[in-house]
Amino acid sequence: MEERDLGGTGLRVPVVGMGTWKTFDVRGPAEEAQRRRVVDAALGAGARFFDSSPMYGEAERVLGEALEGRRDEVMVATKVWAPDAAEGREQADRALRWFGGRIDLYQVHNLMAWRDQLALLEELRAEGKVAAIGATHYSPSAFGELAEVVRSGRIGAVQVPYNPWEREVERETLPLAADLGVGVVVMRPFAQRGLMRRPPRPGALAPLAAFGVRTWAQALLKWILSEERCHVAIPATSSIGHMAEDAAAGEAPWLGPHERDLVARLAAR
Ligand SMILES: NC(=O)c1ccc[n+]([C@@H]2O[C@H](COP(=O)([O-])OP(=O)(O)OC[C@H]3O[C@@H](n4cnc5c(N)ncnc54)[C@H](OP(=O)(O)O)[C@@H]3O)[C@@H](O)[C@H]2O)c1
Repeated sequence: MEERDLGGTGLRVPVVGMGTWKTFDVRGPAEEAQRRRVVDAALGAGARFFDSSPMYGEAERVLGEALEGRRDEVMVATKVWAPDAAEGREQADRALRWFGGRIDLYQVHNLMAWRDQLALLEELRAEGKVAAIGATHYSPSAFGELAEVVRSGRIGAVQVPYNPWEREVERETLPLAADLGVGVVVMRPFAQRGLMRRPPRPGALAPLAAFGVRTWAQALLKWILSEERCHVAIPATSSIGHMAEDAAAGEAPWLGPHERDLVARLAAR
């Protein structure tokens, strides 16, 4: 698995990690044991960067338990998602318990109360409990405000959507992040599964075989990661097979402009 520097955060991340929205919001021994096996598959393939949030129901807890005994091998990126500092601190106390007392990348979710939450995360970083700070938003309507936070110099990474259907970040977010040495985590690589509903027929991917692409999911991940201003994509999955398939896209050779155009055309059908 290729690794890249996540901007200037000091974190060296695998280009494919894993998200946990919906997929890790489960309860009960059977479901939770199965998610541990998804984490096994991720680790087996080098996808050792895991994203979560208190907004995702049980996901932080289920991920924390799935990482038991191997926390040191991975990077945890989670979020604070709270209207004020007091609730933010409660979330952080819980997350720190689940993730062995430290968070590698702690992000302000959807820029919620970001001034209060950044102050909290900076305090936790000064105490050595947080390695790097980031901010996330899914909506282009908030990218202007996200740029303001990036320009403040207080965050080391942003998390934004990027896939052939959602390319707004190409306009301002990616150039700004690259200029300022800010890391980019890519959420929704499959447009919340939307891009997987009507995959192209397998023959259509033949020109990408020389790039190690065997499946549509891999074509989409390679499309994202061939944009070198992106550092790690975090597909979510509840499937061991899909995790292995997604992680296998995290190796050179990367696509050139012609191949990226082909993937964009196939996605637009
Ligand atoms: N959506 C948001 O607005 C948002 C916001 C903030 C952060 N995030 C973060 O970004 C992560 C990823 O975004 P997302 O969860 O919205 O969507 P996504 O990663 O674009 O799509 C996830 C879906 O793709 C399917 N999938 C994964 N690998 C596949 C494969 N190889 N073949 C076929 N289907 C495959 C999964 O189903 P299976 O379980 O069947 O594999 C899952 O339903 C989130 O989990 C979260 O950590 C998302």
